[in-house]
Order: sequence, then C-alpha cells, then structure tokens
Amino acid sequence: MEIVLSGIRPTGQLHLGNYYGALRNFVRIQDKYECYYFIADLHSLTTHPHPDDFHANVKNILAEYLAAGLDPEKSALYIQSDVPEVSELYVLLNMLAYKGELERTAAFKDKVRHNPENVNAGLLTYPVLMASDILIQRANWVPVGKDQDQHLEMSRVFAKRFNNFYGVEVFPEPHAMDFGGGSLKVPGLDGNGKMGKSEGNGIYLADDEKTITKKVMRAVTDSGPTVPNSPKPVVIENLFTLLKLVSTPDTVEFFDEKWNDCSIRYGDLKKQLAADICKVTLPIRERIIEISQDNDYLAKVVKSGCERARANASKTLEAARKAVGFRKF
Ligand code: TYM
Repeated sequence: MEIVLSGIRPTGQLHLGNYYGALRNFVRIQDKYECYYFIADLHSLTTHPHPDDFHANVKNILAEYLAAGLDPEKSALYIQSDVPEVSELYVLLNMLAYKGELERTAAFKDKVRHNPENVNAGLLTYPVLMASDILIQRANWVPVGKDQDQHLEMSRVFAKRFNNFYGVEVFPEPHAMDFGGGSLKVPGLDGNGKMGKSEGNGIYLADDEKTITKKVMRAVTDSGPTVPNSPKPVVIENLFTLLKLVSTPDTVEFFDEKWNDCSIRYGDLKKQLAADICKVTLPIRERIIEISQDNDYLAKVVKSGCERARANASKTLEAARKAVGFRKF
C-alpha cells in the first residue's frame, strides 16, 4: 500500500486554510493509504514558542485532528518529537544540504524579512527537517497546501541526492497529493494573501458562531461593481474563493450572477458565507471541546501512533545508517 504523510505545526489553533489546504484531505484518504499524520512540534521551535504554552498547543492540535475526523485506528497520529528517528535522519541529511540552496528558500527569506532578530540555524535547515519527516516514513504522497510546494520539491532533491551519493535506493521521491486543480491557497479575510496563523486574518475551527459572523462581516470589500461582467478585484475574489469552499454551487452561481449584473449586496454575501462556514466548523468545534477533556484518550492515541510511526521509521533509519557506513563492532 502506498504511504501518505503530512504534518501541521502547533503554533496556534487550526484555521480554514489548514483545514481545506490539508486536514480535510487527510481525513478523506485515510481508508485508501497507509497514513502517517503528525504534529510538527520540533518545527515550531524555530520560532521560539513559550515553553509554558508548548504542551497546550500540541494537545490542542491533537484534539483538532481528531475532531476533524482523523481516525487513530486507521492512521498513525503522532508527535514529531516522540519519534527520535526523525532527528537522527535530520543530522544525516544536513550533511548533504547546502547553505546556498537553503538560503534561497522562499519561506526562509520571508522569515528573515519578518523576524531579523531570530535567524537561527533551525530556521535555515527547516526544509531538511521536513524532508526527514517525509523520508523517514518513505512517504509517496504528501497532502499539503500551495505554500509547501517548494519544501516538498526540496524533499525530492534531498531524497535523490542521498540515493545518488551513496548509490542506494533508500528513499522514494515524495509527491504533493493532487486533489484536482493543484494545491490550494485559502485566502485570508483581509485581502492580503493566504489565511495564516501569524497573519491574524483567519477563521479558526474552534471559533464560535458569533466570532465567525463578526469576522466575516468585517472582511475587506470595495465599493461594488459598476460595469457588468467586470473581473473581480482580489478582495472580492477572495470572498468568492471561500464561498466556493463552504457553499453549494447554486449559492456561488447566485452571487456570481448578482456580481455580473452589478446588483450584489456584500452584506448578503457575507451573511451567507458566515452561515455556511458555521455549518462546516461548528460541529468540529463541539467535538474539539469534548475530546480536549479526555486526557486518557489523547494519551492512548499518541502512544499507539508513536509506536506505529517508530516501527516504520526504525527500518528506514537502519537502511540509511547502513548506506552512510555505520557498522556494529
Ligand atoms: P503549517 O503548520 O504552516 O500548515 C499546515 C498545513 O496547512 C496548509 N495551509 C494552507 N493551505 C491552503 N491555504 C492556506 N491559507 C494554508 N495555510 C496553511 C499548509 O500547506 C500545510 O499543509 N512545514 C509544514 C509542517 C510540516 C510538514 C512536514 C508538512 C512539517 N513537516 C512534512 C508535510 C510533511 C507547515 O509549517 O505547515
């Protein structure tokens, strides 16, 4: 059976971007593949989260994974730092990763621009750790949003480089999983690019109805169309992109027609959008609250996830160590 793997950093609550870009797809494929889904807590250290919040954030994402429909009987759900094989492979792969190529990564340049006082080596080698996550499970497919395309490309480069350098076939090349139409970028409500945890422009799976409605009603718009059938400016296109994710095709068509004949009322569009977002997220919110209270269940899930993840990872690490030349005395 082919292997699927993906992860999310525990740096805040999950939003619609994480859900539609990644998590919903994790859930949809878990019957058809051998699935490994983890919480990337080591990656989150690159931005120095506070130790007091660290565990709570991990627990939060775990509850959100389960609430969204990940089934620990089907998929291995684990915490990245519980699998030490990942960190050892990271050390080995770092020897084949070059400073120049790491410095050219778009996400690294972005972090340097926004956080010049915290350009640590973990940030530079972020793509190497991500490659280790993927390659240690010998994943064939990785469901991620558009923002991770470059990291995935680097994972392929590191896999090929290791195989070629040592003359082995230890790692298959991992590919982005295509759910039709290429990888997804869910926009934020502020008209500025993607929905993100640090952008403050998101709707969270754990938001209540009042909060969701307030956020959507405040979303940036313009003064409205004046020429029939004109192209939509980015801020309006963003609202339609969200509508397409959560609403029925009929609803989208209805507002499209209103846009085209210039009779659209943004207030109506937003009310509909908020209501349809609530339909998707409120049942998940309820389950998040319920699951978060069951610490015994959460402990059982991560224990069995860790065992499954380590069982597979240790075989890969053994092959990688052998390729590098480690031998027992
Ligand atoms: P992270 O935690 O930033 O995001 C988790 C997942 O959500 C997707 N995503 C989006 N998709 C569409 N539109 C958006 N606005 C949006 N925002 C987030 C991301 O593409 C991602 O799939 N480096 C990864 C975590 C990671 C990982 C891995 C993923 C570590 N190791 C190995 C896959 C395989 C990250 O920071 O994702």
